[in-house]
Amino acid sequence: MAIHIPEDKLSEIRNTANILDVISERVVLKRAGKDHVGLCPFHSEKTPSFTVSSTKQIFHCFGCGAGGDVFSFLMKYDGISFSEAAQSLARRYGIDLPDRNMSPAQAKAVSLRQQLFDLNREVMGYYTRQLMDPAAGKQARAYLADRGFSPEMIARFSLGFAPDGWDHLVRFFRQQRVSLSLAEQTGLVVPRKSDGFYDRFRNRVIFPIIDMSQQVIGFGGRVMDDSRPKYLNSPETPVYNKSRSLYGAPAARTRARETGAVYIVEGYFDLMALHQHDISNAVATLGTALTADHVQMLKRGFAQKAYLVFDSDEAGLKAAKRSVSLFLNAAMDAAVIVLPKGYDPDSFVFEFGQAAFMEATENALPMIAFLVESAIKSNGLSMEGKLRIISELQEPLMEIQDRLARSIYIQYLAERLGVRESAIRDKLKSIKTASRAPASASASVFDREAGVFPGQTDAPAASMPSEMIRVERQIVSMMLNVPEILPEVEKRNILAYFSDERLCDIARAVLSAPVYGEKDRDRLFNRFESQAHKDMIASLLIRDECRSLDQCELLLCQFINGIEKRENTLLCQIQSAQEKNDDTLLFELLRKKQEQSEGRLRK
Ligand code: UTP
Ligand code: MN
Repeated sequence: MAIHIPEDKLSEIRNTANILDVISERVVLKRAGKDHVGLCPFHSEKTPSFTVSSTKQIFHCFGCGAGGDVFSFLMKYDGISFSEAAQSLARRYGIDLPDRNMSPAQAKAVSLRQQLFDLNREVMGYYTRQLMDPAAGKQARAYLADRGFSPEMIARFSLGFAPDGWDHLVRFFRQQRVSLSLAEQTGLVVPRKSDGFYDRFRNRVIFPIIDMSQQVIGFGGRVMDDSRPKYLNSPETPVYNKSRSLYGAPAARTRARETGAVYIVEGYFDLMALHQHDISNAVATLGTALTADHVQMLKRGFAQKAYLVFDSDEAGLKAAKRSVSLFLNAAMDAAVIVLPKGYDPDSFVFEFGQAAFMEATENALPMIAFLVESAIKSNGLSMEGKLRIISELQEPLMEIQDRLARSIYIQYLAERLGVRESAIRDKLKSIKTASRAPASASASVFDREAGVFPGQTDAPAASMPSEMIRVERQIVSMMLNVPEILPEVEKRNILAYFSDERLCDIARAVLSAPVYGEKDRDRLFNRFESQAHKDMIASLLIRDECRSLDQCELLLCQFINGIEKRENTLLCQIQSAQEKNDDTLLFELLRKKQEQSEGRLRK
């Protein structure tokens, strides 16, 4: 559902936006020749195959095949529509968009998220004013000061205060003439059983939660005494998805990129305490378990290594166990920092200082080693202890999908326990058959692209004659890069022989509108709704197959020869089947022949 953005604005956005800026704000990129490469945000990988070309203003992943222009990147990465992507770029580059052209229905659907962002921002302002209010905010300011937080930290995190009482925010919304049914969708006011609304946050210190594009997506609030619940958080809303949000993310990214590491802590105050001690590469999970989305987000945009800082208690151990497979399966390095009993990062840095925290970082244990060591600590190394350890570690070990990694960890465990590796393997096998995790989602990407990217190791055997498709790809890439060859392609009716439909669609589009420059490339992307087509176009554009016109003609000849040869073989086969009176084979071959000619007629 697109709001209408006028063509001149779109082209202003296109001309201003730089795909390299936009992507490097979200993915760590390294220069490689005239392109930039990084780890693909759209599938899990260990070596960078995600390529961004700033000269062509496109991206393409040689691993999973995702690709497109700056708009398609944002659509895919943020899960938004084309017009939302355009609006986000307009905001990023300070381009004003008129919103008169929206129909009421469109405006409503598309702008709900924006309205909620705006409301949240206003509420953040309201709460911070309350905190700064000499009278209303007095107790909360004292509470924060008592916990050791400086005014700079309070300002950096835009902390606020929700006054005691049932309807301060309700009245604030009324004053602002905000409809309460819209306000309700922020989760900040809650409908009463009878009638009307009441404030969710009352008499609490408020932490606004801000996402990577600096939008206020939700809030957390802490009581200032021992009452319960200690913390309250915004519910999930159209703009707040807990499994994808991390507190402190925008403030953490720069340092995370500089140092190559990011700390994961549990609480708001843990994170602020680290900041105040000059450790700003930290994010907090806020009472929800770490998810695969969190890990992906950190790995693709922040750093290659994560340090989990858990309490040394049972809950911390459980949390570490749960997240092992997340990190292993995302191929992200992770280590666990164990703080002394009874400390969390907040109390630890305030008591022992930054240097001690850095020392704890150096002593961090790699994830599996941490699990093994804590299992040894709790079970001991008696024979029974060893058995218990192995069965405790069965599950996390089995969740490791990467065989090599699994094998290394099994080796470590075997050495540590003084048991034969094969014995551990046997034990694992016994549960393997019972419960095997399904293959990761990225497998389906490879399946879909089968035959399109032959030579790619992860791809299963191609179902189409892959050599043919390889040449078809080369031809379309050539048509994109050497438009002078187009008349020849047309004259020889090359597309009629294509077997890959997607390639054929694209080639046809290129024939009708040749690509000479950036504008034409954009237009080509926009002719296709399907992401698979966009991916394919980017993958074709990004290979700079600079050929001379001679080479191009040679390629066309090769292609035609290949077709003829195939047909000849088919004809020969038909002939020989006839001679041998093999009716089944004959029938099969005739059917093939017919398919080929029908295919050609279709095109
Ligand atoms: P903790 O109970 O460990 O609190 O919860 P904390 O962060 O050390 O807080 P202080 O130091 O006592 O103020 C860790 C995190 O879990 C979430 C909060 O995000 C908290 O920061 N949490 C905790 C909740 O969401 N609800 C709760 O009731 C408790
Ligand atoms: Mn704490």
